[in-house]
Amino acid sequence: MSFRLTYATMYNPPETMHERFEAALARVETTLGARHRLFIDGADRDAAQHAERCAPFDGTLRLGEFALASQADVDAAMAAARAAYPAWRATPVAERARLLRRVGTLLEERVYEIAAAMVLEVGKNRMEALGETQETVDFFNHYADDFESHAGYAHVLPDDPIEGVTSHNASVMRPYGVWVVIAPFNFPLALAGGPVAAALATGNTVVLKGASDTPWAGRLLADCIRDAGLPPGVFNYLSGSGRDIGEALVQHPLTAGITFTGSVPVGRHLMQQMAGGAYPRPCIAEMGGKNPCIVTEHADLDHAAAGIVRSAYGMGGQKCSALSRLYVHESVADALTGKLQAQIAAIRIGDPRRREHWLGPVVNPAAYANYQGYIDELRTDGATLLAGGARIGEGSAGEPALARGYYVEPALAEAPLAHRLWQHEMFLPILMLHRYRDPEQAMRLANDTSMGLTAGFFGGAEEVAWFHDNIEAGVTYANRPQGATTGAWPGYQPFGGWKGSGSTGKAIASFYYLAQYLREQSRTVV
Ligand code: ALA
Repeated sequence: MSFRLTYATMYNPPETMHERFEAALARVETTLGARHRLFIDGADRDAAQHAERCAPFDGTLRLGEFALASQADVDAAMAAARAAYPAWRATPVAERARLLRRVGTLLEERVYEIAAAMVLEVGKNRMEALGETQETVDFFNHYADDFESHAGYAHVLPDDPIEGVTSHNASVMRPYGVWVVIAPFNFPLALAGGPVAAALATGNTVVLKGASDTPWAGRLLADCIRDAGLPPGVFNYLSGSGRDIGEALVQHPLTAGITFTGSVPVGRHLMQQMAGGAYPRPCIAEMGGKNPCIVTEHADLDHAAAGIVRSAYGMGGQKCSALSRLYVHESVADALTGKLQAQIAAIRIGDPRRREHWLGPVVNPAAYANYQGYIDELRTDGATLLAGGARIGEGSAGEPALARGYYVEPALAEAPLAHRLWQHEMFLPILMLHRYRDPEQAMRLANDTSMGLTAGFFGGAEEVAWFHDNIEAGVTYANRPQGATTGAWPGYQPFGGWKGSGSTGKAIASFYYLAQYLREQSRTVV
C-alpha cells in the first residue's frame, strides 16, 4: 500500500518514501521510449502523428513518443463525450462519487510511478511531484464528497398557492454537457485532475487536453480513469499542440463549458471565444500571478526567509502561485537580504531524479532563453542583482546531465519601481525586491498589478488583519514559513485568483467551486 502524503510528510519525508520513489523511478525508466496513445470513447487510440519528447534536464534522454491529436480525433472525442452525457447525467450521485473515489484510489496506488514520470517530464523535484499526485487524489475525493454533501444541490421551495391552485416549487442544479479541460504544464496532473473530477462529479462528461510540454502526466491520469471503469465516452484524453487542438476544442459546437489553467493572454482569448458561437458558454479561467509579499519591521526574519525562498524558487518559480515581488521594511531589509542570500547559495541545483537536488531545470528552451532576456533587462534598466542571474549547464564543467539541462540560478534583484518587470509575469526563479518606509505605500505597491492570485505577509500578529483586509488577492498567507505564497492544498486553502488571475472569483476546492459546473433549473408543478 502506498504511503499517504500530507503536508507534514512533504516537509519531513520518511526514508521509506525515498526508497519507494527510487524503486518506482527505476521501474518507470525501463519504459522510456514507449508510444503513448489518446484515450477516446473508452479505448486507447493511436494518432496519425506523434512527437518525440526528451527530459528537460537531459536532451538525450528520450521519454517517449506522444500522440498528436488531429481535428478528426477532436471530433471523435467530442462526439463520444456527447453520446455518453445523457446516461452519465442520469447516473445516481452516489455512483458517480464511487467511481471518482475509485480513480483516487488508483492514483494513490500508483503515486510513486506517477510522481517519477512527472520528475522526468517536468523536471520538478520528487517531493513536489509526490505532493502533486497526492493533491490530485485529494481533489477526486474532495469533489466526490462535496457533491454528495450538497445532495446534488436540490432544494424544495415553499408551496405557492394563488387563486386556489397550489404550485409546488423546487430548485435543482443540472450539468451543462461536454466540458473541456485544458491543463497547464506546471501542475500537469493536479490542475488536470481537479477540474476533471469537478466536471465529472457534477454530471458533465469531459474531454481533457494535456499541455503540449507534458502529455505524459495527463495520459497517466487517463489510465487511472480508464481502469476505474467509468463508462466509455464519459472521459476522453487528447494530447497535442494548444494552437491546433486547443483552438479546435474551444470552437467546437459541442463544447458546453471550459476550464482553462494557463496564461492571461490565452485565458482572455478563450473567454472571448466562449462568449461567441451560437450562445455564450461558461469559461472558468485560472490564470497568472504576480504575487507579492510584504515584510514589516516586526517580522520573524527566519520564518520570512524560509517562506520566501520556498515560494520564489520552488519548481523554478514556474507556479502561478510563485512569489515574484518582495516589499521589505527598510529597517530589516539588509538583515533579510543576508538571510536570503545565504539560503539561495545553499540551494542544490541539478538532476531532479536525485534526492539532494531541490531545484531542477526550467521546463523548455523558451523558458531558458527568457531567463537570460529578463536578467539582461534588469541589469540594463537599473536593477542590482543581489543573488543569481546566470544560466548554468551549457559549457559548464558540471556533471554530464547538468551540462545538458535548462538550469538557471535563483535570482534576487533590487529593482527601481518603474521597472517594467514589476508588472510582467516571468514564470521563472527571479524575485524582485523593494525597500519601503511607509506600510501604506507597501500595500499600494503590492496591489499595483492587474493580477491577484496569492499574497504573503510576515509581520506582527497585530498587523495581520490589516494585511488581510487590504490586500487584493484570492489566496493569502500570513507568517507562514512553509511557503509565503505557495502550497495551497484541497480542503485547507481554497485556491482562486482575483482581478486578472481568475475569471470567476470562486476558488478551486472551495465551498462554491462545483456550482460553476452546473446551471440552475427552477421546477414548478401544480
Ligand atoms: N497548489 C499550488 C500552490 O498553491 C498551485 O502552489
